[in-house]
Amino acid sequence: MIQNTRRDFIKAGGLVGAGLTLAASVPATATPQSDTLRRGDWQRLRQLFPLDYRYAHFANFLVSAHCEPIRAAIEAHRARLDGNPAQVMDYDRQEVWQHEHEVRTQAARYLGVAPGQIALTGSTTEGLNIFYGGVRLKPGQEILTTVHEHYSVRYALQYRTERDGAGVRKLRLFEDPRQASEDEILTRIAQGIRPETRVLGMTWVHSGSGVKLPIGKIGELVKETNRERGPDERIIYGIDGVHGFGVENLDFAAMNCDFFISGTHKWMFGPRGTGIICAASEHTRDLVPLGATFSQNQNFGTTFTPGGYQAFEHRWAASKAFELHLQLGKDAVQQRIHGLNHYLKQQLQTLKGVELVTPSSSALSAGFTFFRIAGQDDEALAAYLIQNRVMVDSVSRDAGPVVRMAPGLLNTEAEVDRAIRLLAART
Ligand SMILES: Cc1ncc(COP(=O)(O)O)c(C=O)c1O
Repeated sequence: MIQNTRRDFIKAGGLVGAGLTLAASVPATATPQSDTLRRGDWQRLRQLFPLDYRYAHFANFLVSAHCEPIRAAIEAHRARLDGNPAQVMDYDRQEVWQHEHEVRTQAARYLGVAPGQIALTGSTTEGLNIFYGGVRLKPGQEILTTVHEHYSVRYALQYRTERDGAGVRKLRLFEDPRQASEDEILTRIAQGIRPETRVLGMTWVHSGSGVKLPIGKIGELVKETNRERGPDERIIYGIDGVHGFGVENLDFAAMNCDFFISGTHKWMFGPRGTGIICAASEHTRDLVPLGATFSQNQNFGTTFTPGGYQAFEHRWAASKAFELHLQLGKDAVQQRIHGLNHYLKQQLQTLKGVELVTPSSSALSAGFTFFRIAGQDDEALAAYLIQNRVMVDSVSRDAGPVVRMAPGLLNTEAEVDRAIRLLAART
């Protein structure tokens, strides 16, 4: 890979990827340790957030509030930057790189990979642009995706086609989310793959229906197909993982994918304006960068981290989010979120006229519980709940109009009960 500059090369020689060596040259920035949380201590976790708890917050999947450890880390980095920005941006960039390395290290711990596999982005959308905009295609090769993708994917693909004519085809993986099954999804994907399919792009947890795809099994299917393909024809499998990341207890290896793309400012509780791409290899040749990096430019993580000066205090504080989730326990997090969603689904089904849209099965759903009520406008219903201090939202995407509720780690069973009482009064 190309070095940033000759001077960077000389100054940074031998340091890259060796966090300890880099650390030795970094001034102490007094970044506080994240508050130590006990595994599964949901009550303490709630206290770390400055949320207005007169409201029940069932829409934190949009963007996270900043909890105490994140605020403290941002403040410490901000103080250092505000005291002497030019020094932090010192010409050999070692301090900047050290902080980035720390974020990659914590993200890598969380996913079970090496830091060099992690690029730091500003959002899911930015990561998706890098993936769909930069994935190498030969003439005649196509991108295969689904009708269930978020509009961030839709536009990334539309612009890719406008730029270079890349072919894009979309599969419908199920007709009715409630009736979806793993078998049906896998069969439709297997039947949809053609010899010219070079890229397979899927969203893990759909924000129009709440359906969770069996991403690991889809990856097995891809691996099987790839056994009969040469290196220039093998399918490159990328996942928009934002609504599974910070919910599901999965390491990167179990996803069986080439690229995992996610924001860290939703379920992960990272600073607003942060995200990652995790690649299966530190030395992948599958993507062409869309622009310059200001990182070391030596492996996937440091080449695909977009350059230009950033809101560094947010980017660097993201390490605390991964630490927080590891303290809580990835398995405990998944169990808690699934438990609350299961409870909400059960309660909703006791109400007359409620149509659940998200599957009941834990294998096909995660932290979303979407529904509608026969004869009622979803937007009016969402407005009614919000007026009564229950934060939800409503959208109409591939599964039609739905009210979106996402019970998560900052909710309680009592809040679910309150929402149900309000809905009962309307049915
Ligand atoms: C499935 C999905 N992908 C991507 C995005 C965009 O996320 P970000 O705000 O991190 O760019 C969203 C937004 O909520 C989403 O629901």
